[in-house]
Amino acid sequence: METPSRHAPSDLVAEFQPGRIGDGKPTPPKKQPLYERLWTWVPIRALAPRHRDRIAEHLLSLGPQDVYLRFGYLASPAQIRKYVDMLDFERDEVFGVFNRHLALIAMAHLAYPPSGTVPASNRMAEFGVSVLPSRRGRGYGSQLFDHAVLHARNRDVHALFIHALSENDAMLKIARRAGAVVKRHANESEAWLALPGDNLASHLEEAFAEQAAELNYRFKQRARDLRHLLESTWGKSTADNLDDAQDFNPDLPTTSAGSTDKKA
Ligand SMILES: CC(C)(COP(=O)(O)OP(=O)(O)OC[C@H]1O[C@@H](n2cnc3c(N)ncnc32)[C@H](O)[C@@H]1OP(=O)(O)O)[C@@H](O)C(=O)NCCC(=O)NCCS
Repeated sequence: METPSRHAPSDLVAEFQPGRIGDGKPTPPKKQPLYERLWTWVPIRALAPRHRDRIAEHLLSLGPQDVYLRFGYLASPAQIRKYVDMLDFERDEVFGVFNRHLALIAMAHLAYPPSGTVPASNRMAEFGVSVLPSRRGRGYGSQLFDHAVLHARNRDVHALFIHALSENDAMLKIARRAGAVVKRHANESEAWLALPGDNLASHLEEAFAEQAAELNYRFKQRARDLRHLLESTWGKSTADNLDDAQDFNPDLPTTSAGSTDKKA
């Protein structure tokens, strides 16, 4: 498995024993009032091989410190490209948040060990995430984590693993808040979160969130197409006026990634 960090899959699989995660009891899912969840809802969409360019663009736009935090080492552009090329969309789950220009402003990778390497009773997955600096502190990292937890629970995964540098306060806060047990080894930390089992509510929640995110994406696609039409028919300034009219949207592009304009 091409893991989100530099950990070898075999090390993770050997390390994982459910009884070693705290008291071994899974953390119950968060109980957040419905109005609060709707208010803070973020459209998180599953990514596919056709999104590789945008994933690469997102990761390559991170600064060196963020790359270091994300991968656990200072991955070079070539190593990042290799990581993106090796992403296995069949086995793993890669998901992201798009702005209204359909640029990827946040993404996460939930990596599963290759089948047959872990007994069914010990299924685990590794979580890696990144959010563009200009979009941080808005809850995207936490929501991608919650999404990963829900997704993993519904696939009979028993634990999530997160590798973070010990200085990575934001990532460790997200993991701890979810109930993860964090083990610190000098400047590196490992967080393990025991997951509760799935139920009807967890499957319905995932299905609903997926549908809503898909709808949101299609809407953004239409808006982008409309912008192209306006631009080619009446010129850029008319299209810019459309942008101004949409300025209430928090997903305004503020980085180079925001200029992405590729086929969805
Ligand atoms: C880690 C990361 C994904 C967090 O993304 P985010 O969208 O800013 O996360 P959230 O907005 O959900 O914030 C999570 C919590 O961390 C806190 N936080 C954010 N940045 C922080 C910082 N620099 N120091 C301390 N706490 C911080 C937030 O206040 C929030 O806590 P709160 O809900 O109690 O206010 C983002 O910082 C990032 O992409 N970093 C680079 C890559 C990386 O480190 N990946 C993780 C290793 S795989």
